Amino acid sequence: MDVAVVETLPQGVEADVLAFTVRDPVVLEGTAAELDRLVDGRLGRLVEEGELKGERGAVTLLHVNGELSAHRLAAAGVGEAEADADGLRTAAAQVAIRAGGIGGRTVAWVVDENGGGLSAAEQARAIVDGIVLGAHDPGRWKTDGTARVQEVDRLVLCGAGAAAVGEEAQAAGVVAAWTNRCRDLVNAPANELTPAKLADAAQEIADRFSLRFEALGPEEIGASGMGAFAGVSQGSDVPPRLITIRYEPEGAVANVVLGLVGKALTFDSGGLSLKPADRMEEMKSDMGGGAAVLCGLGAIAELGLPVGILAVIAACENMPGGHAYRPGDILTAMNGKTIEVTNTDAEGRLVLADALCHARQQGATHLLDLATLTGGMVVAMGDFYAGVFGNDAGWVEQVRAAGEATGDHVWAWPLHGSYRRYIDSTFADMKNSSDLRQASPMYAANFLAEFAGNGAWAHLDIAGTAFLERGREDYYGDRGATGYGVRLLAELARRVAGPHA
Ligand code: BES
Ligand code: MN
Ligand code: ZN
Repeated sequence: MDVAVVETLPQGVEADVLAFTVRDPVVLEGTAAELDRLVDGRLGRLVEEGELKGERGAVTLLHVNGELSAHRLAAAGVGEAEADADGLRTAAAQVAIRAGGIGGRTVAWVVDENGGGLSAAEQARAIVDGIVLGAHDPGRWKTDGTARVQEVDRLVLCGAGAAAVGEEAQAAGVVAAWTNRCRDLVNAPANELTPAKLADAAQEIADRFSLRFEALGPEEIGASGMGAFAGVSQGSDVPPRLITIRYEPEGAVANVVLGLVGKALTFDSGGLSLKPADRMEEMKSDMGGGAAVLCGLGAIAELGLPVGILAVIAACENMPGGHAYRPGDILTAMNGKTIEVTNTDAEGRLVLADALCHARQQGATHLLDLATLTGGMVVAMGDFYAGVFGNDAGWVEQVRAAGEATGDHVWAWPLHGSYRRYIDSTFADMKNSSDLRQASPMYAANFLAEFAGNGAWAHLDIAGTAFLERGREDYYGDRGATGYGVRLLAELARRVAGPHA
């Protein structure tokens, strides 16, 4: 989507739909009052009749008879008086859907000077997010070719607050497009998106931005001593890939290499500790962390952010079969630590163990892994917050704050060593799961901590947020992939790169 900013007064902006926000209860003031005057008080009458509502996500369309340059007005409800960015995203998503429904290709939006507590930049980012993410179609594999909604081609921000936020808005457009690209990867079924295909997608992105790229196959993975990753991979006929991409921009901040590590199980059947059949199809989304790392890197490279990145994506399938790893097997990870496998369905931490070691060995100074890691995270936080753990309070806080600033919500969890005793093994340095049903995200985080090496590390458990089992009734209206993490990663890189990025 093309994003532009104009200094023209809203009434002079050409668009299929000119949108402005209304709160609940509706009061037409400022630009809204001016627009109402221009359309002979027709907005005010709709308010009086109770047809124009300010509830979050309510959109009222009004035809314009030449009084404005736009063809239609859209009053977009954001909810209560102190609107938040998610409310604006939801409103924008509804405008995109309504505009698409009537063949509207260009949407203009009035940026308020005082957007209910949101700065103009925050409004611009939320509007872009809502319009791009709200129009995403999960039905890509339908053969009748009818996308759920037609996408908006062009967004024009206008109004008093718009002039200063053009660059922010354009950057948000880039990040939102990568977020949708991530959603397509995560929604893709495992028969289509194998580890090799994910590596192809990664190579395409690397080539586009001239980045150093490497994808190791099964022999090389074994030869590198990645016994944990190899163990998980061996039960499947489709070979694994360890994907490494280096983004080394000119003028990068000194002495920082952001190591982004993604779990990419293109399918997680549970292995011999087979999962129940119910909803097993959703485990095609178990590569959501890897896809976020890949598309986050794509966004960072397209924006040219000056921070060095080392992206590591561990891609494989977890399948039962004659070659599958067994409960009781003892695996040796790349750093020499031994792991007793007590549940083959706790495979994510095994592939991450080696991926984290590899990222550290390759020079990452700050590690962040993203993984659809535990069912316990879904139980605890549902579909809205991911949990973050880490060994460095400052780094964890940076990750949390970057997520919160973008709509990828993050809640900090404790990484307390007391939980480590639950993964003590009789035979090896540790086991990969506990039979206790308490605090499973903490055990997983304590497990990963054993492989993070020296330096800052944070772990995002995105099991509940990467793929929605049902729509969220906000700008994610449908079930399916959210692209969680792409916006967070781009914002984190921007913050690490410093105030001038
Ligand atoms: N990929 C799953 C976690 C998951 C569950 C993600 C639901 C998204 C939705 C992970 O590999 C897994 O199976 N975890 C198990 C570990 C357990 C067997 C120790 C879990 O958390 O139930
Ligand atoms: Mn599993
Ligand atoms: Zn898994």
